[in-house]
Amino acid sequence: MSNLKILVRESYELMSSRAASIIENQIHDKPDSVLGLATGSTPLGVYAEMMLKYKAGDTDFSRVRTFNLDEYYPIKKADAQSYYYYMRKNLFDFINIPDENIHIPDGEATDPNTECYTYEEKITALGGIDLQILGIGVNGHIGFNEPAKAFAAATHHVKLDASTIKENARFFANEKTVPTHALTMGIGTIMRATKIILLANGAKKAETLRDALYGPITPQNPASVLQLHRDVTVITDRDAGRLL
Ligand code: GLP
Repeated sequence: MSNLKILVRESYELMSSRAASIIENQIHDKPDSVLGLATGSTPLGVYAEMMLKYKAGDTDFSRVRTFNLDEYYPIKKADAQSYYYYMRKNLFDFINIPDENIHIPDGEATDPNTECYTYEEKITALGGIDLQILGIGVNGHIGFNEPAKAFAAATHHVKLDASTIKENARFFANEKTVPTHALTMGIGTIMRATKIILLANGAKKAETLRDALYGPITPQNPASVLQLHRDVTVITDRDAGRLL
């Protein structure tokens, strides 16, 4: 038996609007919600919907606080491939969230371990994450928690898998320019969120999702740990949800 709520929608747009409505309700219920945010291609539709809801006057982000899951390391904020840049261009520049409420692991930090420690402390100080948005890597990673021997407890500095570098090369000039490391919330950080939405679209995520949601719970498939969380809503399009 599982606590997972699984919503398979016909299209990417319907997947995105379902997730955006849950976020909207969360902010209405708690205007100073702490949101955990993801990057990658998957949540772009959700962010587009959130901007529309702001423009239409339906959602006020002025008290919302956000923590992003991860960032490449090292990377400059001004670099178009940084998650800092992604978040500005795909959401933050278009809604009324104050700069001081936005948190993204700092790819320019001099000491990555201190940055990770401080980041985790900030999340704890704000009372933890109310609603965490997740995508999933083809290898089952969430944030940049790669398949590993153990689940990481907190935000940490990680070496990216060769498969992740290959997968993410599409956002860079070529594979060689993809950073080899990243800073990411740990599995523990993610699991402490009160609610989680896991998003996936496209046929290449179908087997990954099936294995994560119905297979053995193992750090070799990081997303499988979500089976142990009390409040996860999985929202997919038809192709990604085909095997669920
Ligand atoms: C990236 C990010 C993850 C994201 C995943 C899937 O590397 N670090 O947070 O969920 O891989 O990416 P996409 O949505 O582009 O498939």
